[in-house]
Amino acid sequence: MSRRPVIAGNWKMHNLQQEAMDLTNGIMQELRSEDKAALPEVVIAPTFTALYAANKALTDCGCGKVKLAAQNCYFETKGAFTGECSVEMLKDAGCEYIIIGHSERREYFGETDEMVNKKAKAILANGLIPIICCGESLEQREAGVTDYHIASQITKALRELSAEDVTKSIIAYEPIWAIGTGKTCDSIEANRVIAMIRNVVKGLYDANTSDAIRILYGGSVKPSTIKEQMAQSDIDGALVGGASLTADSFAQIVKGAM
Ligand code: 13P
Repeated sequence: MSRRPVIAGNWKMHNLQQEAMDLTNGIMQELRSEDKAALPEVVIAPTFTALYAANKALTDCGCGKVKLAAQNCYFETKGAFTGECSVEMLKDAGCEYIIIGHSERREYFGETDEMVNKKAKAILANGLIPIICCGESLEQREAGVTDYHIASQITKALRELSAEDVTKSIIAYEPIWAIGTGKTCDSIEANRVIAMIRNVVKGLYDANTSDAIRILYGGSVKPSTIKEQMAQSDIDGALVGGASLTADSFAQIVKGAM
């Protein structure tokens, strides 16, 4: 089964509107001579206030090589939920993907497995693609409960989703100790955990579903690490933080995944 690679840039809480426009244009400039069909699925996830600017840059270019994601959403459709954005609003802003369950949202904003599951359902119901994040802390890794913890996060995130919906979804394995630390998880170990996740999906659904779902690695991905990561059997791409904030390094990662 050949799975199309995905390289997604999570900009986190960076970039004013002009900066977002410049970065988006810079990425497209770097990718201008690449054949679209040969590129991985390239996704950028600006913060809410920069979605308009990034989307404008993408639509003005019209090359269709880069897609838009949001970093979060709320699962309700509308109403008295001050400060939140519905999936429909993000779709209206040009998003085709939404990151959910990022470890920073779980740690600082109380996002639970149950919320991740509700968000995944809302995203898929609106025809968008969830990028479902999971990952263990250093303490969990040292206590030897990594696989148990990740399997639990994935099982809860996918609860009541159809096989068809899961096939369309993307999972990102991001060991928390590797995020923003420069300490990339060893590729063999990242591949082992990702293969374990695929096996969890197989147990919940079937081999067709587990063969089809794309599972990314995230955590200090750099231009110098991507080739080895992509050479692994089960790693289908990367969710990139810091290195997605400059056009040059992000484009190098994209090209390293071709
Ligand atoms: P870094 O690439 O900066 O480690 O961030 C990873 C991440 O959290 C992407 O969602």
